[in-house]
Amino acid sequence: MDHVSVLLAETVAFVNARPDGLYVDATLGGGGHTRKLLESSPQSKVIALDRDEKILELTREKLKALKARAVFVKANFRDLDKVLAGLQVLPRSVNGFIFDLGVSSFQLDDGARGFSFRTEAPLDMRMGGDAKYDAAALVNELPQEELERLIRAFGGENFAGRIARVIVEERKLKRVATTLELANIVSKAVPSFYRHGKLHPATRTFQALRIAVNDELGALKEGLVKAAAYLARGGRIAVISFHSLEDRIVKDYFKSDETLKVITKKPVVPDDAETAENRRSRSAKLRVAEKL
Ligand SMILES: C[S@@+](CC[C@H](N)C(=O)[O-])C[C@H]1O[C@@H](n2cnc3c(N)ncnc32)[C@H](O)[C@@H]1O
Repeated sequence: MDHVSVLLAETVAFVNARPDGLYVDATLGGGGHTRKLLESSPQSKVIALDRDEKILELTREKLKALKARAVFVKANFRDLDKVLAGLQVLPRSVNGFIFDLGVSSFQLDDGARGFSFRTEAPLDMRMGGDAKYDAAALVNELPQEELERLIRAFGGENFAGRIARVIVEERKLKRVATTLELANIVSKAVPSFYRHGKLHPATRTFQALRIAVNDELGALKEGLVKAAAYLARGGRIAVISFHSLEDRIVKDYFKSDETLKVITKKPVVPDDAETAENRRSRSAKLRVAEKL
């Protein structure tokens, strides 16, 4: 399934002030935001990053008609400073940054990557080769209390204690190697009403592991600081987040950086039409700040 970009028009409208600007899409994914940026300002240039080489190549091919104005770089946005310096971009010279966080549909649909609890695959969940360990390492090697803390903090999972306990019991018998093995362990650990609820019982545990494996919150903190340093006066930084911890980081950072003015007092959220069409957009929050 093609990735459906979230808050596409809104985000691009917020950052796209100049027809000939230089923009950075820190999370290329399926390229929706990059394409819209390039199409809506005919002389603009976009530097697009993704830590996932596979997506980067697919999207580079998809956007090849626009390649004269786009540069595609495989990199984690926590290294934005190195990427931009390598392209001879000076600090305070970028007109806008877009961060559209999390995973894309390509990654979720690629059964082999281990992001989904519906498809049997090795417990991997690395978005890119730069991740230090995979999900199997965390599940099989973290002490029980740390596993519990991780699942509670990054997944908002109320049953983190029970889940961590059953994982530890099971891994004593046999290493937990696949997505479905983990999903079954989680189902076994939680109470029956939760097992039969609206949400798959492993949703929050999988989310927590993905965030930890990819150090998503650490990368976000570093990426925001670096983006702000490269922003030209009047330039804007727009971040779409899907998780309350991410949104908190963005909100706090925008407030704490004295060189930034917050443009969105409250986060912008998708309207009913968008949430009806794209389930993934339901938790999206867009925040925008401008360089003074
Ligand atoms: C939600 S998708 C972006 C979708 C894109 N805006 C579109 O319209 O198609 C997020 C993408 O960001 C990438 N990503 C996540 N964290 C990253 C990081 N720290 N550095 C670089 N890319 C990252 C993921 O690999 C994924 O492809």
